[in-house]
This record gives sequence, structure tokens and C-alpha cells, in this order.
Amino acid sequence: MTGQPKGFHLGASYYPEHWPQERWERDLGAMSDLGFTTVRMLEFAWSRLEPGPGEYRFDWVDRAADLCESFGLSMMLGTPTAAPPVWLISAYPDILPVGPDGLRRQPGGRRHYCLHHEHYRAAARGVVEQLANHLAGRTDIVAWQVDNEVGAYRSTFCYCDQCEAAFRRWLEARYHDVAALNERWGTVFWSQEVRGWDEVQIPRPAMNGWTGSNKAALLDFWRFSSDALADFVGDQADALREWFPQVPVTTNWTSLTTAAFDRAAMAKRIDFTSWDNYELDLYGASFNHDVVRGAKLGPQPTWTPEQRCAPPDNRQHVPLLRDGDVTTMTLHNIACGSDATIYFRLEQALFGAENAHGGILDRTGGTDTRIYRELMSSVPRLRQIGDAVAGSQVRARAAIVYDTTAGVAITSPLPHLVKKRSQLLGHIEHLVRPYHRALQSLGVDVDVIPCDRDLAHYDVVILAGQVIASGDLATSVREYVAGGGCLVATPFTAQVDDNDNLVAAAVPAGLTDVFGLSVTDQDFLADGETVVLARPVGAGEAPVPDLQGVLCCELLRLAGAEVTFEYRNRWYAGTPAIASHSYGRGTAVYVGTALDHVAARSLLTEVLAERDVEWHDLPPDVHLRRRFGPGSGPSEGTEYVFVVNGGEVEQTVTLAGRYRDLVSGEERDGVIGVQARDAVVLCRAGPR
Ligand code: GLA
Ligand code: ZN
Repeated sequence: MTGQPKGFHLGASYYPEHWPQERWERDLGAMSDLGFTTVRMLEFAWSRLEPGPGEYRFDWVDRAADLCESFGLSMMLGTPTAAPPVWLISAYPDILPVGPDGLRRQPGGRRHYCLHHEHYRAAARGVVEQLANHLAGRTDIVAWQVDNEVGAYRSTFCYCDQCEAAFRRWLEARYHDVAALNERWGTVFWSQEVRGWDEVQIPRPAMNGWTGSNKAALLDFWRFSSDALADFVGDQADALREWFPQVPVTTNWTSLTTAAFDRAAMAKRIDFTSWDNYELDLYGASFNHDVVRGAKLGPQPTWTPEQRCAPPDNRQHVPLLRDGDVTTMTLHNIACGSDATIYFRLEQALFGAENAHGGILDRTGGTDTRIYRELMSSVPRLRQIGDAVAGSQVRARAAIVYDTTAGVAITSPLPHLVKKRSQLLGHIEHLVRPYHRALQSLGVDVDVIPCDRDLAHYDVVILAGQVIASGDLATSVREYVAGGGCLVATPFTAQVDDNDNLVAAAVPAGLTDVFGLSVTDQDFLADGETVVLARPVGAGEAPVPDLQGVLCCELLRLAGAEVTFEYRNRWYAGTPAIASHSYGRGTAVYVGTALDHVAARSLLTEVLAERDVEWHDLPPDVHLRRRFGPGSGPSEGTEYVFVVNGGEVEQTVTLAGRYRDLVSGEERDGVIGVQARDAVVLCRAGPR
């Protein structure tokens, strides 16, 4: 692999193919006047790169690239495969994917391709190779981006015959013989046994979705589709590396909740991870940054290849960005470990599906806009900060273990994958995000990681909805707690095996001795219903107020654990809701209900205090994040502290120790004031 991207980058997405060449100079000049470093181009330009089969046209790319170079702008280049051209679809209409309803999706938008269509794959690889071959030798390409927002609009899944054939091959490689498949999928239930691979089908909605489908089949179809997407991205990344062995490759992901696939698996095929930030608040942005950073093993910067800087579109109800928001969001990206922020987009397109989407320039290409003026004044500061911290790392002391496949399994009581997206969202919203937000509001940096990561260096680990009871995870969790770690687990922990079959054991399976309890029943709350949690009667002074739970309540049978909270209403009032257990040198806390972020925060303050992890009582919308050198700071181990205020009023945060303001150089200690919609960045040299 090529390695990590270097340096700090600020820039915008630009589509030279949308404008007469006379305008390019003015547009690129506007970027250079702003002090941008990087232009993002070419994703979606397939019909101009290859106007007909095998007819490649790269002369315009050369002119655009040379012009970038003359302005001192480097390039992040996208492969154009998210927008298959009309000629390709006309030649092979079955490139168009088929939906779960059996209907073929139509062209006219983008991402309209089946990952298993041989000619699509060949054409995609062809245009990527030709482009890379043509540009080989250029030294001003700082990163490649494969495709665009893979998996968006449910494009991970296709239900066509080609995919069915590929699914059968994938299953054969996994299970070897159909007897094993029948056994693992439990096909005897409802007479679903198959006699050969050719009888296996993609799970499609059965009886209008009114009856449950085979859960193991759904989970495997999800895995198969996710694998195919990773392979598609990896295949392009491999092609690019042949021509550009030194240029790191990424693919720009969407927010976690808008595309279903295993990010950590895909991350193995690319050099660095990145995501497009259209989040409406900094809590949402933090969460995605921490997921995207956590998806890739090892310290690395991430990038933000698209950053909202204008109203996205009048089809969505998104509020106008306030003055200062773009600067604040950029500083927050940096705080979260992102070493590039590329704004979407430079100019507003006059035509096409997104001509209601604003840009930095106005619709005449003029610079008399609010956002241009804001960037004009903030880019020097953004670059000063970005250049100083680029390459430094987030070193979180807390982790949330969140595995996407488990997220799919958890939602499988539902009839079909069609509903999965909203259900996956529900899982993330209720079991993962509240803990993340709680840690953010306490100023505790956190990694959101898949379940195969080493836990030893974290002070606190939250197992969020890890419904799949994997032996490896049980071992690592057990060792973590025994070695002195503090583990907090949510409902649904360790209930099913890899095929979503119930594990025939007390749950949390394989971990009941670690938690000192087992779960006997699960109650589900209706939307809007809550359960009150309180200190057990007679527990003395309650340092933590009553908490609220939602979604579900698990009834717990204690075997060594101590109750810290009990249910206060519902018919099982007075029974344990949260229990804590000493195991080895550590502690395992089981939380039987889904907490909102206020409740999670209360619980975590106790846990963190016990672990001696520093936390802050941050005002709403204020974020405190850290990165650690080397960077280009004064010495190894430089600590950079970001105090970011996304709110409407000036706030203060009290820090221990002496810091230097990274921009003004002023010495600071004690109370740090930060304006509304702004950030202060401090640094402190020395060993951690
Ligand atoms: C996504 C896409 C862009 C554009 C923007 C609009 O992030 O990657 O091509 O459609 O949304 O907000
Ligand atoms: Zn298909």
C-alpha cells in the first residue's frame, strides 16, 4: 500500500466539463486567491473522458490540470464510475440494477449500475486505467478518489440474476456444500431446504413483506453485497496504484446511516478513509469522523472530500449556514483528525439535477458572496492551523465498539432488508449515538471501532449493540476487563451467532461471568415510551439523578453483579436495570435499556471518574478535542487542543495547565473563552 496522505489541504470540488474553457482561468484563479491548495475534479465526467466505447479524450483534462498547476493548485482526482454514460447503458441495459421488487432501476440519475455486470466492471476498469496511464508522471495529484459515495441510495444491493449467480458462488465458497448451508441457515424452518446451489435465491420480499424472511439468508446477502462493493473499490484502487504507486487512494463515504456496508472491510482495500460532511451539527460530524477514522487500523489522517458550504438543495430542508459556520466546521474537521477539507462546491451549476445547489461563487461565477468573503478572511488561519497539526493523531482513551454487520443482525426481526435502512438507523440512534454524544459533551475523545481491534489501550470501552456473540470478541472483551479495563454494554449484547441463529446459552453468551448476570427477558417500548431508572431503594445518597431509557428493557438475573440502577416504573419496577460487576482487575457494566444521551452522560461521569479519565462539563454545542504530535510542532508529543463552539453564544472552558494559542502565539491558561461559531486552537509541547 502507498501509505498515508501528507500535508494539509483546503479546496473545492470543481467541474471544468460544465464550463466553457474561457471560464476555467477565472474559476481556478478565484480558488488560488482564496488561498486554496487543492482542486477536486473528474468524478462524474465519464461521458467526456470516454465519449464512446474505447474513444478516450484526455486533452481537456491536461489543459485543466496544467492550469491548476499554473495556479499552484494540486489535485484530488475522482474516477468517474458513479455515472455510467448513456452509450454504455444503451449497449448493455442489464447494467442497470434490479430492486428488491424485481423491477429494473432506470438511468437518468447516477449510481445506476450492478456490481456484478461483467461489461460494466470491464468498462469501469478500462476508463480508470486509461486515465491513470495518461496522467502517469504528473506530480501534482495528491490523492485519488474511487467512484463517489459508494452504497448511497441503497446501491449496495442489486437483486438481478447476475447477482444471484454471484451470490451462489459466494455461498459455495463460504459453506462448501449445500448441507452446511441448510444447517447454518436453518432452512428446515418453513420448508426452505435446497438440494443444490442453483436452488438458492437472493432473499427477496416474501408475500408483500407480511411474512418474515430467513434471517441468515438476509445477513449473508448483506455480507455478500458489502464484499462486492469493497471489491469494486479495491479493484479500482489496485488499478490506480499501478500507475501512481506513490499517490494514496481513498473513496468518499457518506454518513454512516445513509449507506449500508462494512466500512472497516472496505478500508483494508484503500490507503486512507474519508467522508463527505453534510451533517447539520457538530455532534453528527464528530460521530462520523470517529467512525471513519476508526474504520482504518493504525494512526492515520482522514479527509473530508466534500464539506457543505452552501445550502445543499431546495429539495431538502436544510437551514442556511450562519456566518462563521463554514470556518467552524472546517476547524472541527481538523480537530477530529481530518487533514483535508474540500468544499462542495466552487460554483453553482446552471443545469442538471443539482442546479439548486449553491456554491462558493455566485451563479455568474462572481465572488461577491457571503461564503467567499468568509473564506477570504478565514483561510489564512485555517491553513496556519492545518499546516501545524497535519499528520498529528487523535489518541482517544475511550472506544465504542460498533460493528455494522451486528447492526444488520440486530434489526432482523423485521421482515425484509427493504426496511433495514431505517432500522439500522434506529439501532445507531438508540444504542450507539447517545454514548458517543455523551462522551463528546464530556470532552472525552473516542474512537468508534469494529470488533476486531485491540482494546488494551482504552480506559473505557462501550460495546454498542454487539448482538453477534463472536468467540474472538468474547475473548478480547474478557481479557480487556480482566486486565483492568472498564466495559459498558448495551442491550442486545451477544445473543446470536454469525448466522443470526440464537446461541443456545445464557446471554450475554460467553460473557455472563464477566458481567455477573444474565438476561432473562426483553420488553420493547413503543415509540415515545420511556422507562424511569433510579438508584435502588436504600442505596443512600444518589449522586446521579434518575435516568430515562427507551426502546427496550431487558430483565436481568444477577449472579454477582451489583445493581446501580433499577427500573422504577412498568410492572417490573424494582428489578435491576443497570448492574456493575468486578471481574479480574476491571469492571463490567451492563445496561439493560437504551439510554438517551443525557442518561448516558450521567452514567459515564461515574464510570470515567472511577477510571481517572479527565472530563469537562461542556456547555451545549461546545466541543473539546485533542490531537497529538509530532506534526510540525515544537517537539514530539505536542498536544493540540481544539475548543470549538458551534452554538449561538460565547462560552468558556476551563483547562488545567499552560497552553499557547496556535495562531496568536499568546500564552493561555485557565479559562478559555470562545466566540459563538468559532474555535480556539491551543498547543502545549512535551511528552504526553
Ligand atoms: C453528495 C455528492 C455530490 C453532491 C452532493 C450534494 O455528497 O457526492 O456529488 O450530489 O451530495 O449535496
Ligand atoms: Zn445485479
